[in-house]
Amino acid sequence: MKKKIASLAVLSVLSLSVFTGCSSTKQTEAKGKEEEQPIIIQGPMPIEAEKFAGKLENVKEETSGSFVFYKGTVDDYPVIVTKTGKGMENTAAATAVAIEKYDPIAIINQGTSGGHDPELNVFDIVLGEKTVNLGSLKTGNMADEEGIDPTAWKPMDLMASEGSAGEDPNAEKIRYYDGDEELLAAAKAVKDMYKKGKVVEGTIGSADVWNNEVDRIQWFHEKYGTSVEEMEGAAAAQIAGAYEVPFLGIRVLSNNKTNDGAYNPDTASANQEYVFEVVKEYISEME
Ligand code: 5AD
Repeated sequence: MKKKIASLAVLSVLSLSVFTGCSSTKQTEAKGKEEEQPIIIQGPMPIEAEKFAGKLENVKEETSGSFVFYKGTVDDYPVIVTKTGKGMENTAAATAVAIEKYDPIAIINQGTSGGHDPELNVFDIVLGEKTVNLGSLKTGNMADEEGIDPTAWKPMDLMASEGSAGEDPNAEKIRYYDGDEELLAAAKAVKDMYKKGKVVEGTIGSADVWNNEVDRIQWFHEKYGTSVEEMEGAAAAQIAGAYEVPFLGIRVLSNNKTNDGAYNPDTASANQEYVFEVVKEYISEME
């Protein structure tokens, strides 16, 4: 387990203060920073965050903008549940704020999702071996009156280069964010504790879009290999990646258009029960 220790930062701050002979509050704070780095659990909606927050001990609530952070402990280890709000923008911002404020050791983004795979049923859970942004697309070239042709749209990798994504042919590919291996291992280790459905590894697709067109869902399933869709995972994965913080998406199916799986909001709480077991397992593996 590569548990990051803040001691390097502490050492450099300390040696700096030896050289300069000054001591600021920042340095005092840095000394206290040998504390354990928290695990962050994100949920978009109240029904996707508050169940887990209710399981924390010693909870203190903090807010930043519209984001709510429930700071507490699980098995004496610091865990912060974040209610991010829905969608990519809220999630990206809540992830960056959390990383800057709390220096997490790992981030799990979890909640409900819609099935893209007809083999998966409502209450099944997908562990995001990969996460992908389904809204990063480049359309074909169509002149006035030529209409629109969504199945001809190409994936667009906004991280391919710092140049124009519209002009760069190297950007015409799908960008997948890999789930962290240690988080995945912890999630797999407690699979059998989940009794309400199966737990599988798969690909989580995200965009600020709710797809109800089964042909479009199938198109993503075939082209991108998506198991489920939701509106947050890829945003959190991208920002966690930018800061090199280990990340995993864990999504329960609350609906599945491909096999008539009707929406069931109780799935949100079932997922949090499972993610709680994952977190306890991850903590126990650190020791
Ligand atoms: N498509 C998109 N988002 C979905 N969600 C649940 N099911 C779906 C679906 N089929 C989640 C999103 C968002 C909220 C609308 O519910 O992640 O937070």
